[in-house]
Amino acid sequence: MHKPLLEVLDGKRQTVPPVWMMRQAGRYLPEYMAIRKTVGSMLEMCFTPKLAADVTLQPVRRFGFDAAILFSDILVIPHALGRSVRFETGEGPRLPPLDDADEILQLRGPADDAVLAPIYETIRLVKSELAPVVAFLGFCGGPWTVATYMIAGRGTPDQAPARMFAYQHPEAFAHLIDILVKASTDYLVRQLQAGVDAVQIFDTWAGILPAGEFERWCIAPTKRIVADVRRAVPGAKIIGFPRGAGSNLNRYVEDIAIDAVGLDWMVELGFAREIQRKRPVQGNLDPLALRAGGVALDRSVDAILEALAGGPFVFNLGHGILPDTPVAHVEQMLKRVRG
Ligand code: CP3
Repeated sequence: MHKPLLEVLDGKRQTVPPVWMMRQAGRYLPEYMAIRKTVGSMLEMCFTPKLAADVTLQPVRRFGFDAAILFSDILVIPHALGRSVRFETGEGPRLPPLDDADEILQLRGPADDAVLAPIYETIRLVKSELAPVVAFLGFCGGPWTVATYMIAGRGTPDQAPARMFAYQHPEAFAHLIDILVKASTDYLVRQLQAGVDAVQIFDTWAGILPAGEFERWCIAPTKRIVADVRRAVPGAKIIGFPRGAGSNLNRYVEDIAIDAVGLDWMVELGFAREIQRKRPVQGNLDPLALRAGGVALDRSVDAILEALAGGPFVFNLGHGILPDTPVAHVEQMLKRVRG
């Protein structure tokens, strides 16, 4: 069956670009909040297949997006590695900080598959309900990004604790990255086997690394995941999203055999076109332009379409939708993209 998003991942331009939004299942949707209120915690929601499937399908039902993205979180991996993860409402994730080199060197994989099993059940449920033209995306975090949360125990403005740790204890840090590469690979393979059509690797904190560290902690681990996933699932479709990578995007797409690259909103559109000559691109509307709506939103959408819709392109945001975004603005965006 023809799925426009998968066509783009095959390098084929679509007359109307397929569109979805990062974090499309979430707090800006009243129907999401209605379910969220009935559940004790974010993780409980991720591990309850019926609820997670329902929430995955909500934005597709409401807006007719070209893709559904599995409702889960990148931090289920540290959770399945035995690090306790909590989500504080309005404050983000909390983990026990991991800043002792010896403690890290004692850390062992693999991730506990029994912990992740409900997620594969969610995938089977969603798959049975999804229209055949809609692509179904799974995901994981980039090992670097997941490591930044494991080390700091939370999100910080620049994830300095992990960057500092990697300079001071490169061996222990490499051990942590190795564990995450293996766990992420297994996790993506299981998602693909359960029925997702493609997967996205979210490296949200890629942009804070200097070039040499970017090579070592973002490119090299992602490259291993891509190769290892394809060894288990030949032809697996993979989107990379190295947020904030800037000029490092060139090496990212040259070195890693991903099928498409997600661009954040800071990527200049002329540069985005250069990247598009090497790989299909996805992006890159500023989530704040979406929140603002009105003329600013229309102009931003038009500029992106003009620059990128002539080639293989998936319309998306340059990062996740903000919780206080009016639903009407999402409708306005879709109208503008689809004409
Ligand atoms: O895109 C989707 O709709 C699928 C679900 C999804 C979530 N998190 C659900 C979520 C995806 C793909 C993610 C990825 C994720 N999680 C990333 C990478 C992408 C990005 O946005 O940078 C990161 C860094 C995380 C870690 C994380 N999870 C943070 C920093 C936070 C707190 C900030 C926030 O938005 O609340 C979360 C919580 C989270 N993950 C929520 C949702 C819907 C909010 C939880 C709630 O409803 O209370």
